[in-house]
Amino acid sequence: MFLKCVIQLGIPDIIHNHGKPVTLSDLADALSLPPTKRDSLNRLMRFMIHSGFFSTKRHDENQDEEGYVLTPASRLLVKDSANTMSSSVLLVVDPLFVTPLHFLSAWFQGSGETTCEAAHGMSVWDVFEQNHEFGKTFNDAMANDSRLLMNVIMNEGQRVFENLKSLVDVGGGTGATTQAIVDVFPHLKCMVLELPHVVSSLSGTDNIVFFGGDMFKSIPHADAVLMKFILHDWGDSDCVKILKRCREAIPSREEGGKVIIIDAVIEEEDDSKQDRKSITETQLLFDMMMMALVGGKERSEKEWEKLFLEAGFCDYKITRVSGFRSLIEVYP
Ligand SMILES: C[S@@+](CC[C@H](N)C(=O)[O-])C[C@H]1O[C@@H](n2cnc3c(N)ncnc32)[C@H](O)[C@@H]1O
Repeated sequence: MFLKCVIQLGIPDIIHNHGKPVTLSDLADALSLPPTKRDSLNRLMRFMIHSGFFSTKRHDENQDEEGYVLTPASRLLVKDSANTMSSSVLLVVDPLFVTPLHFLSAWFQGSGETTCEAAHGMSVWDVFEQNHEFGKTFNDAMANDSRLLMNVIMNEGQRVFENLKSLVDVGGGTGATTQAIVDVFPHLKCMVLELPHVVSSLSGTDNIVFFGGDMFKSIPHADAVLMKFILHDWGDSDCVKILKRCREAIPSREEGGKVIIIDAVIEEEDDSKQDRKSITETQLLFDMMMMALVGGKERSEKEWEKLFLEAGFCDYKITRVSGFRSLIEVYP
């Protein structure tokens, strides 16, 4: 919540635009704070420095007071930067997002299919549709995540998209993932299949077409189907239904057909190194969020394999990339 406050006040933006360390009084002036709030601002910044979001330094020997500067973490909170994650922070502390988590024990004891239904009486997708501001925060947060992650994927896993002529991004949000792929492969013809209310106002580009539809009913034909952060939203039987629709949409393996999944692959046994431990921690935390909010789950390789075979696929290949998600190619 304190990080939300920092983002809403625009503190990372003020420091970013200042061009030199920002003293406490400069920051208070830039925020037009009443003098009575200056001590609170000082304490907020002290806490944020301790948490690694800012640090302090002198601009030069002539500056007698130290000023605040950004750290790698707060550079991700500058709203207009290409790699901003500011909407992701705003999403996870939004009351509409947090309230269902207060219903966890009631849900365990039988109330509602998900905590979201127990709290709001509807699925999370309906909550997004009916609360436009919240829906926009969600779509922006997904686009933030896509831009940042696709930088990594187009560096470390670019070959997965080579030799494709067409691609359909199922549940592709507002198109940030597809855009990152098209930036590298401009010849690729792409479609984004999404719920109608998400894409009704989007107009597309020369090689990106937005489609309002339902992935459980049908998926437009393409060489490859991409699903980033989709299957973890659903339980096993729904995933098998979606994967069957994917199989109908692509040609044979010999003709280049495949499904590309970007999602976590949990590897608990590989937890000995510190960086793996924090990756597993993130995956398990996402597993809790998916279990509670949407009835989905994060999966181990064995669990993924079971879904692929059940949906009629023959083979798959997992490519690990930096961070907590992997690229999974699934072949008919
Ligand atoms: C977790 S988001 C992922 C968005 C995007 N792939 C990304 O990673 O940025 C899941 C997306 O699935 C979409 N979705 C949910 N149900 C759907 C359905 N039945 N058909 C098509 N899309 C759906 C949601 O609107 C949402 O944008």
